Amino acid sequence: MLRTHTCGELTAKNIGEKVTLCGWIHDRRDLGGLIFLTLRDRYGKTQIILDPAKYPDAHKIAEKVRAEFVLKITGKVAQRAPGQEKSEQKTGEIEIAPEHLEILNRAKTPPFEIDADVKNEDLRLEFRYLDLRRERLQKNLQLRHEMTLTIRNFFDQEKFLDIETPILVKGTPEGSREYLVPSRVHPGKFYVLPQSPQQLKQLLMLAGYDKYFQVARCFRDEDLRGDRQPEFTQIDFEMSFVESEDVIDVTEKLFVELTKKHAGNVDWEKFLENGKMRRMTYRDAMEKYGSDKPDIRFELELHDLTEISKKCGFGVFENAEKVFGLCVPKSLGEFSRKKIEELESVAKQNGARGLAWYRIGEESGAVGKNTIEKFRAELKKEFDANDGDLILFGAGDFLHAVEPLGAVRLKLGDDLKLRKSNEWAYLWVVDFPMFEKKDDGTVAAQHHPFTSPLAADFEKLETSPLECRAQAYDIVLNGVELGGGSIRIHDPELQHKIFEIFGMSEKETQAKFGHLLSAFEFGCPPHGGCALGLDRIVMLFAGEPNIREVIAFPKNQVAADLMLGAPAPMPEKELDEQNIAVKILEK
Ligand code: AMO
Repeated sequence: MLRTHTCGELTAKNIGEKVTLCGWIHDRRDLGGLIFLTLRDRYGKTQIILDPAKYPDAHKIAEKVRAEFVLKITGKVAQRAPGQEKSEQKTGEIEIAPEHLEILNRAKTPPFEIDADVKNEDLRLEFRYLDLRRERLQKNLQLRHEMTLTIRNFFDQEKFLDIETPILVKGTPEGSREYLVPSRVHPGKFYVLPQSPQQLKQLLMLAGYDKYFQVARCFRDEDLRGDRQPEFTQIDFEMSFVESEDVIDVTEKLFVELTKKHAGNVDWEKFLENGKMRRMTYRDAMEKYGSDKPDIRFELELHDLTEISKKCGFGVFENAEKVFGLCVPKSLGEFSRKKIEELESVAKQNGARGLAWYRIGEESGAVGKNTIEKFRAELKKEFDANDGDLILFGAGDFLHAVEPLGAVRLKLGDDLKLRKSNEWAYLWVVDFPMFEKKDDGTVAAQHHPFTSPLAADFEKLETSPLECRAQAYDIVLNGVELGGGSIRIHDPELQHKIFEIFGMSEKETQAKFGHLLSAFEFGCPPHGGCALGLDRIVMLFAGEPNIREVIAFPKNQVAADLMLGAPAPMPEKELDEQNIAVKILEK
């Protein structure tokens, strides 16, 4: 080793020892002859003092060094001068006056100061190797490492086997567009990058590996957001001979361990019910919170106003299939027109045409002016409201009535500081619908097509598939979906039926899933599992606002790697070798 210690290690106990440290120059102060350097590595910072009267050679070299130069210094650990100690730093009592100072490497002036709060994220991502030198990211990656270790040990103790599955596969549907990889050996054919190891883990169950887990890379070509990356990591697991409860139990046990070990000082037990995480059906979550991943740390719950709106006098409500509302008590805050407009734009971004509102006791606004008094009195009663409280409405079909209000509720939670960072509310959302209707009128799986229906709803598969519920469950923390899973179909006939409901022809079914259906004919055990988004979990545990802060080399908002310059055009020669002709279609 070129060094005897790290920059975060030396304390008063080491005073008098001769040491060698290596690191980057964090800062340099020249105080009329005396030069102070801060040497930094990922373990911490150490103060270096260069006195021309003591070690002139070292001082001479120090005159030339700049921020981010890489140095090796050798000298004795000394007590800092009185008044210069920094008790909050581990190395804050000592400094080193080096006899030898060697420049191991020079550095250009970095595009931003390592400690600075750089707002331009693209700049940070272009120079990610410099960004990663910052304490914040070092802490996050350390936490990610420790949490991953806890997770691996947990599954090992629970007798799960860590099995890798391939990255070059055939499509496995999770509802996103897929990344394609052309095959050189098979011209005109493509591999697909896995959106998840879903089918492979099911095939492992068939093969008899009854408890599998993997820290798995997944790839999805979808619109990016703060909690979505085109490639991300799942803690993926699957079990045979189980029911939903068994999968939920294991997952819950894992989160209890993670929370106790890595969450720090947060109040999470207050949201438990009889020592277990709370459960809510999808329907309840949507009706009360306008979201399938509700943040239950605060109230502002939605109320179904459909019945009382039927003859309210206001056409928009009378003609709507559903009317929902939420009430913001005046005691939480007063809302100017401008603030209501801000909320309205959130509602619009989430599918509403507008955001009707009514202030109790007033006759202003479209609702106040156009509705009959009886309706307004009923509203007051429904919300047990007081004069001046603000009611916000959502109207339309069920989803259009509740989802915009759900988004408005979260905005209110943020604005009114109701989402307390030291409170953590885990929640299971269960009984998801099996299917959802797509814009083109066809039916698709809400989770994925391998999910089993609830036994009680089997008959609805034939009669009213959209009402059929699935044996599917999601785990949510503070309004973020951490993971989800389901009990799978293990009967080839039922699996066939589900593909039929999607409107897939036998030919299409065979082309896409023939391998799975024929495998199911060789003795498939009942099985189920779950996948947890590692990036999102670490994001919440680290208290970060987006997953890019907990990924070493993330892509930016438009799926580009600005550091590597990917994606990039390919030279003609390489394309020829791969039998690829590029044609860019106008959209
Ligand atoms: P699902 O699609 O719900 O389930 O994904 C599971 C979890 O993975 C995380 N996740 C993402 N994280 C970051 N960026 C993304 N683009 C992204 N997409 C998903 C989320 C999500 O809850 N095969 C099933 C699981 C199963 O049924 O066992 C699946 O992948 O935290």
